[in-house]
Amino acid sequence: MKIQILGSGAGGGLPQWNCNCTNCTSARHGAGEVRPRTQSSIAVSENGIDWILINASPDLLAQLRAHPELQPARAIRDSGIAAVVLIDAQIDHVTGLLMLRERTTPLPLYACRPVFDDLSSGFPIVPLLSHYCGVERNEITLNEPFAIPAAKGIRFTAIEIDSKAPPYSPRRAASAPGDNIGLLIENVASGTRAFYAPGLTSASSAVREAMQSAQLVLVDGTFWRSTEMIDLGLSDKEAADMGHLAQCGHDGTPGMVQLLDTLPRTTRKVLIHINNTNPILNHHSAEHAVIRARGIEVAHDGMHFQV
Ligand code: MLT
Ligand code: MN
Ligand code: ZN
Repeated sequence: MKIQILGSGAGGGLPQWNCNCTNCTSARHGAGEVRPRTQSSIAVSENGIDWILINASPDLLAQLRAHPELQPARAIRDSGIAAVVLIDAQIDHVTGLLMLRERTTPLPLYACRPVFDDLSSGFPIVPLLSHYCGVERNEITLNEPFAIPAAKGIRFTAIEIDSKAPPYSPRRAASAPGDNIGLLIENVASGTRAFYAPGLTSASSAVREAMQSAQLVLVDGTFWRSTEMIDLGLSDKEAADMGHLAQCGHDGTPGMVQLLDTLPRTTRKVLIHINNTNPILNHHSAEHAVIRARGIEVAHDGMHFQV
């Protein structure tokens, strides 16, 4: 099973269009110490021809241009994208659906019910697409493994995640089960697994178990410090207010680094969905050195894995 990182950045990407923080400035004008990153998405394939897109980034078209292997060119109109799985209804994970409207058949879309609800009301992409290619609705049930016809050898399981519904959702203040999921992605033939969760505020025992069972974890790398946005004067919100667990622990609560430390040494640990303010993005930074010394990697666009 192949896993391709299409976009390793959080909402806004890197550089963010209106941001002049040190990372965005370096990504825009620097000497390569901070690599540009597009917004949050990965693709998974069993055969290297048919791909399951996990999250549809606002940068989808640029990502597809950067990855010609996702265009098998079997017909005059064709795409390797066989289906899309959504882990939440956040703008950085769903806006790219609009860019798939030229499909000639309905788009197989997999998501939990609350996500379909948001995408039919607050951000009505699903009814809107009915005027273009249409959507084939496949509702995901938490903890119930499912397969997708174009990749029968891959088993997906949605794990409930403690995070946030999007700012536009009526459930922003109190999320419902299914607003946010992590995905266990298993190569059925080999039994090897990846766990993908780009947004999580805390790790339940089910999340810890999923992480323990995976050879590759791709997890929330949004913020280094919980008060990162406040410290930079960019927001009045802490990481948890936005549905994210910072890498550094605070007030006695372990951070993502401590959580990853509990995994076996052989597990490949990769931070993904990295906000443009995060100092780990600069590979000369002290924070990046801390991560690397603990065997944790920082995802970049184009990174790929065989699981
Ligand atoms: C988030 O995960 O909090 C997002 O990146 C927000 C957004 O897309 O604006
Ligand atoms: Mn996001
Ligand atoms: Zn910035």
